[in-house]
Formats: sequence, structure tokens, C-alpha cells
Amino acid sequence: MANDLIPGSKAGREMLGSRLGFLLLSAGCAIGLGNVWRFPFITGAYGGAIFVLVYLVFLFAILPIMIMEFAVGRASRLNMGLALEKLEPHGTRWDSLGWVALAGSYLLMMFYTTVTGWMLIYCWYMGFGSLEGLNPAGVGNFFNQTLADPMVQIIGMTITVAIGFAVCAMGVRRGVERIVKFMMMGLLLLLVALVARSLMLPNAGSGASFYLMPDWKKFSDFGFLNVCNAAMNQAFFTLSVGIGAMCIFGSYQPKERSLTGEAVWIAGLDTFVGLMAGLIIFPACFSFGVEPGAGPGLIFVTLPNIFNSMNFGKFWGALFFIFMAFASLSSVIAVFENIISYSVDCWRMPRKRAVALHMLGVWLLSLPCALGFSTLAFVTPLGSGSSILDFEDFLVSNNILPLGGLLFLLFCCSRRGWGWNSFIQEVDMGAGLKFPRFLRGYLTYVLPFLILILFVTGYIDKFWK
Ligand code: PFF
Repeated sequence: MANDLIPGSKAGREMLGSRLGFLLLSAGCAIGLGNVWRFPFITGAYGGAIFVLVYLVFLFAILPIMIMEFAVGRASRLNMGLALEKLEPHGTRWDSLGWVALAGSYLLMMFYTTVTGWMLIYCWYMGFGSLEGLNPAGVGNFFNQTLADPMVQIIGMTITVAIGFAVCAMGVRRGVERIVKFMMMGLLLLLVALVARSLMLPNAGSGASFYLMPDWKKFSDFGFLNVCNAAMNQAFFTLSVGIGAMCIFGSYQPKERSLTGEAVWIAGLDTFVGLMAGLIIFPACFSFGVEPGAGPGLIFVTLPNIFNSMNFGKFWGALFFIFMAFASLSSVIAVFENIISYSVDCWRMPRKRAVALHMLGVWLLSLPCALGFSTLAFVTPLGSGSSILDFEDFLVSNNILPLGGLLFLLFCCSRRGWGWNSFIQEVDMGAGLKFPRFLRGYLTYVLPFLILILFVTGYIDKFWK
């Protein structure tokens, strides 16, 4: 397809202001609920330290795909929907899979907005001392009551959707860059302080060893491949790879810096936040007698106990949830931007109309998850005790992200796609770390099969056990 036919191509694209701006925005997209909410509860569910170890391996394994997403975005200056079309060789139909960006983004937001809502609600509860003086069982009950209140759930989710789309309506750079910079720094500092506090709690040592000392027996308890599957899915989730969100950031990036170095920075920051979150949660779990495998509510039934045990706990608690709300919102905004630019570029829809349409669309489709613990609690798609949230998370984390990641991988490595040479040329353009050439064999022949094998394992684990 000729360049001049592509709407939103180079000339019209808003560039990011600074290198720091790009790094923080991409880090803002990567760092979110995946690090502080999902990582701890999956770690708890899959045996602690052995999961962490395998997860770290998979972060390295998946990182090249994040770089590929950046490269596809920067080379095409387009969102995933049109990037494949622009870069694919004549006669191929990679672009027929561009809708993955839209479908994946919607599915992710269908539960992400609800959980971000929980963060917002907890800012309020913490700030007004609603959890003050409760014992650990009381903190657990409080969370369950919050879940069971449909009005509270809808309000939290609605505020999330409204803020996210309002920021997008203001434009990429003006809206996001400023806010994210400030909040991310705050979150990093507060996490370090909370680690120190959590490690000083009584019985913190048992939690730290659950989290950091691998117990190899657990591989046989959980099944080695199942642990690998969960670790791979978490790696995709936390790095935001597979639905073209990073492709968007690549498309706004100037060509002065090579992409590998930037990706290493982003993944490093992202991993740091996740590991810190674990160091806060698990010592506290063991100290307050909270079950590490408690599931998606884990941080909400653990953290308030820490704040209750601190001087000025109300203040620190509110601050923590405010920073977390912003970290989650920066991921929400990135994904909304992905959705909006898809419609602007692919459907040539005016930006304002796209914002209005998708605000309504995302809000409506987020309702099932928001009501999944009250009005719709009878819906248990993954078997008894499961929720709509679990099901939507399964669709995204076990399906769309790994398969979308596989798509980028094949596109960049295969001669019948964009191809290795074009990828290398783009990725190494600019100053900074160069992409390691020796990874070619691994990326072409090993990683795709690994993803497929673990994808199948995930299904066996879920449905045939
Ligand atoms: N990486 C985000 C998190 O850890 O919360 C989640 C996410 C955002 C996944 C954007 C995928 C994505 F495209």
C-alpha cells in the first residue's frame, strides 16, 4: 500500500517531547495493576518463590517481543491495525489480524477498569479512616462487602472510564506526560518505604522466605508447565505486549535512540515495582495470617493491615492507593489511546467522535465485571467459585496477549512478514544499545514453539484437570 494513502502517517503524527517522556509513558503503560495487584496474587497462587524465579526467566524471554512492538510502531508511524498493512510484503494478509489490537484492548479494559475502580474507592476509604481499627478478619470482610455493593463498583468503574477518556480527549502529550512523571516517582518512593515497614512486622521472615526461597517440591505440586504458563502470561501482561499498546508508543517515538536500550529500561523499572510489591505483600500476609493464595483480593485484604499498624496509617494508606490509582490510570489511558487511534486511523473517525463512542462502549462492556460480585455473582464461567473477572482475565492473559505476541514475533522474524533485516534496521536506528543478533535462532525457532506449547498447557490446566 502506498504511503500517501495511509491516514495519520508521519507528517500528521504528534511526537513525544523528550526521551524521558517516552520512557515514562511506556513505563506508565507497563506499570500498573499487573505489578501490584496481579503479580502478587498469581505468585501466591503458584507457590511463591519458584513462580518468581520462572517469571524472571520469562521476562527476559518475552522482552524481545516488546522491542518488536516498538519497532513495528516506529517504522510505520501507525497503530497495530494499519502498521501490519503498511509493513507486510505484497500479497500477504497479516493485516487481517489487526483487529486483535481493538478486541484485546476492549477485553482488557472490561476488567481493568473495575479493579482500577477498587484502587480509587480505597483512596477514599483509607483517607476517611473507614478501615481504621479493624482486625485482619474485619479487613477481609470489608473488602467482601465492597465487592458485594453494585453501586460502589459501578461508581469506581465509571470514574475510571471518565478520567481515562477525558485525558485522551485532551491529547497524548499534554494530557499524559505531565501527570505520569510526577505520580510514578511518588509511587517508587512510597513502595521502598513500605517494603521497609513490611519487613519489620512480626513473622515477616516466613513471608520473605515464601517469596524468595524456592521450594522445589512445589514444582511437582503445581506442575512445572503450569507454573511456566502462568509465568509467561504474567510476563506478557506486565510488559503490555500483544495488543499493540507498545506499538502506539513506538509510533510516537523519534528515531534518535535505538529501541533495545529503551525497552530494557522500561522492563527494568516494571520488574522493580513488581518485586517490591511482593516484598510488601508476602511478609504482611504471614504476619497477619492472610492466605497468600487468596486470589484477586489479595492486596486489598493485606495492605490495610499494614497501614493500621503504622503511625499516620490513614495518610500513608490513602497516598499508596492514590499513587496506585494513577499507575493503573496511566495503563488505562494507554489502552484507551490504542482504541481511539485504531478508530481514527482505520475507520477515519474524527477523534472527538471516537472518544465519545468508545467511552460508552467501554463503560457498557465493563458492567458485567463490575457487577460480577453482586448482581451477576451467579455467573461462574470457569467453574464454581470463579467470577466474570477471572474469565475476562483468562481471555486476555492466557489467550490474546500470548497469541498477539506470537503474531509480532512471526511478523518480525519471518521472510513472509516484515522480516528480520527490516526489523534489525529499525530497531538499531539511533544511539544506544543494539539488538543482540545471536537471538535470531531463538526468536525464529524456539520462542514461537514455547509460546504455543505453554498456551496449550494453559487450556489443559484450566479445563481438563
Ligand atoms: N502492563 C499493564 C499492567 O501491568 O497493569 C497491563 C497492560 C496494559 C497489559 C496495556 C497490556 C496492555 F496493552
